Formats: sequence, C-alpha cells, structure tokens
Amino acid sequence: MKKIRVGIIGSGGIACATHIPNYKKIEDVELAACADVDISAAKRASKEFKIPHFYREYEEMLEKESLDAVSVCTPNIFHKGPAIAAMKAGAHVLTEKPMAGKLSDAKKMYEASKKYGKILIVGFQTRFRIDLNALRQLVQAGELGDVYYARALSLRRWGVPARPTFIDKRVSGGGPLLDIGCYSVDMAMYALGFPAPKKAYAVTYNRICKDPSMAKKGGWGGPWRVEDFTVEDNAFGFVKFRNGMTMLLETNWASFSPSDAFNLVLLGTKGGAQLEPLELYKDVLGKRVVVKPHDEFHQPDIYEQRISKFVESVRTGKPLFSPAIEGLKVQAILDATYRSAAQKKEVDVEWDF
Ligand SMILES: NC(=O)c1ccc[n+]([C@@H]2O[C@H](COP(=O)([O-])OP(=O)(O)OC[C@H]3O[C@@H](n4cnc5c(N)ncnc54)[C@H](O)[C@@H]3O)[C@@H](O)[C@H]2O)c1
Repeated sequence: MKKIRVGIIGSGGIACATHIPNYKKIEDVELAACADVDISAAKRASKEFKIPHFYREYEEMLEKESLDAVSVCTPNIFHKGPAIAAMKAGAHVLTEKPMAGKLSDAKKMYEASKKYGKILIVGFQTRFRIDLNALRQLVQAGELGDVYYARALSLRRWGVPARPTFIDKRVSGGGPLLDIGCYSVDMAMYALGFPAPKKAYAVTYNRICKDPSMAKKGGWGGPWRVEDFTVEDNAFGFVKFRNGMTMLLETNWASFSPSDAFNLVLLGTKGGAQLEPLELYKDVLGKRVVVKPHDEFHQPDIYEQRISKFVESVRTGKPLFSPAIEGLKVQAILDATYRSAAQKKEVDVEWDF
C-alpha cells in the first residue's frame, strides 16, 4: 500500500506531545516534513522524531512535499491560513481544537473543504471517550426521554496556561471559553445529536488573572504580566435551543470554585444522566434509582485514536469523526456567547451554514 505522506504545521507543544508520536506508530504513514514560523521549533521536532525535512514557511513545505495529510497545530488564530493552504495544495487536514480563533475563519475553512473536496476534521479527541459515547447512546435510545436541560462545565480552580498561545487574544482569539469550553460545547452537542440553537446570553470576566498578586503566583508556564493577559478568565453562558432545550455553560481557568469540575449533566423527561462519573437517574418500579457501570470502561488512548482515525479517514476519503461542519457549529455557539458578553444582551446564534 502506498504510504500516506503527512506534514505538520506548528511544531510546538501539542504537535510534539501527541500528533507526531502517534503518526510514528502507524506503519503506512510517512512523516515527511514539519514547519514552524519559529524555525528552531521545526528543527527540534525534525531532529527528535527523525522527520526528514523542516521548514519555516508552511507554504514552501506544501509546495515541495506532495502531502496527503496535514496536522495544523498552530495557535487558534492561525488555524485558518495553514488549513486552507493545505487543502488547496491537495491535503486532507486535521486541525487542532477549537476549529478557529473566530467564527468567520471557521466558515472560510469549511467552505474551503467543500471547494477543494478535502476532509477537514476538528481534533476533538474527547470524541473517543467511551463514557461520552455511552451517554450519547443512552440519549439516542430514548432512556432520558426529551432532554430539556444540559449543564456543561469545564471549571478549573487554578489552571492558567500562561503562554501567549492561550492568553494573548491576538493569537488565541479567546480564553477558557475557546480553550476548554469548546470541549464542553462539543461533548454536549455530540451527545444530543447537534440540536439547533436559537439564542445565547453570556457574561465573561477577567478579574482574577488581571490581579497582579495572582499573575505573580503564575500558571502553567510561570507568572504572567497582567498587561499581557488579554482574554477572559471566566465565562458563563445560557443557550436556548429551537426545540425548547436550554444549556448552561460554565468555564474558567481560575476561580474560587470548591474544586475542578469537568462534567456534563443532562435532564430529560424520563431520566437524567451525568458524564463524570457516568450515571443514569431513572424511576424503576416507582423508586428513584441510580444506574452506573459495574466495571470500569476500558478507555483506549484518545490521542492515539484521533490520529489513527484521521489516517483512516484519509485512506477511506470520509471524515470518520468530528467533521468540519460540527466544528463550525460548536464555533457558532462559542461566537454567540462572546458576542452576547460583549454586547451585554441576548443575541441570535448564527446557524445557517
Ligand atoms: N487537543 C489538545 O489536547 C490540545 C492541547 C493543547 C493545545 N491544543 C491546541 O493546539 C494548538 C497549539 O497549541 P500548543 O500548546 O501546541 O501551542 P505552542 O505554542 O506550544 O505551539 C504552537 C506552535 O505554532 C507555531 N506557530 C505559530 N504561528 C504559526 C504559523 N503561522 N505557522 C506555523 N507555525 C506557527 C509556534 O511558533 C509554536 O511553535 C492550539 O490551537 C491549542 O488550542 C490542543
């Protein structure tokens, strides 16, 4: 079988931690080249992982390397340019989450995937969680009846990724709402089968990370200068759906919450459920019961799975998880929450793609 030639754009943290090592495990993949505007990062990756060629300009890499597939691992605002250029050059693309730094970019990426007939997958590795897929099956099987409420939480007591990639709005596009709220929205929407939203109301804050004593305390990557922190540190939103459902979204990197909380809670007319740990709440013989797995699920490595599934998508010509349209829909909800917070009023969620 002909080997699939893969290139990497953005050779920093996530590329080296999870993309490159997992491509290396697949026999019919040839990791051909990597690129990074910081040429030392590209060179380091090339040396460490024995990738034959490295480039400063991804355009040059795309021109010279005849790639079948590309991982885009740049900061959020820089997903659009490399993803579109790679598809134009004939490669299928796996882009890091969130799909983009802003909705208009995500739309252009989606349009480009249609125009060039290339697969564009948004790398939500959470799609490979066994518990999330079980929850989705419970919803599909009607175990919850009509779901009328979802609570999607990604709360950190203290977990600020204090690097420009995340805290400089010009590069990240947003704070925790984009960075980890994207998982919450994606998991809820995936479990619920992507119902159509209508309106969003949200507020954002950045009072904790703008406090010099907190900045001095530092996050992942050390302390930061308060003037360099240009995104929100907390975001809370309420989304109303066309089918009458509502979703509460809570996300932050730093807060005086009692504890970290990453959870999805669904309430329906015939049952409720939560994700962490997976539990189902029902009435059985008139009694309230809690149903939970007897044995722990065997959870394969979700990072390994996303790369192998992307490669399988390239081989089969079909996006086998998290296709661009779904990444775009997640982005539309995130966009509406940011717009609502900025305008201090309820806004429409853009949905006609
Ligand atoms: N799926 C996950 O678990 C996960 C975890 C962390 C980060 N991410 C996502 O991955 C992306 C990158 O995050 P990271 O932690 O690897 O950041 P990083 O800062 O460690 O690496 C990004 C790299 O991209 C390079 N770069 C910037 N602009 C570029 C451009 N225009 N062309 C080529 N290279 C460019 C930078 O020089 C840097 O080396 C973000 O979108 C982030 O949200 C995902």
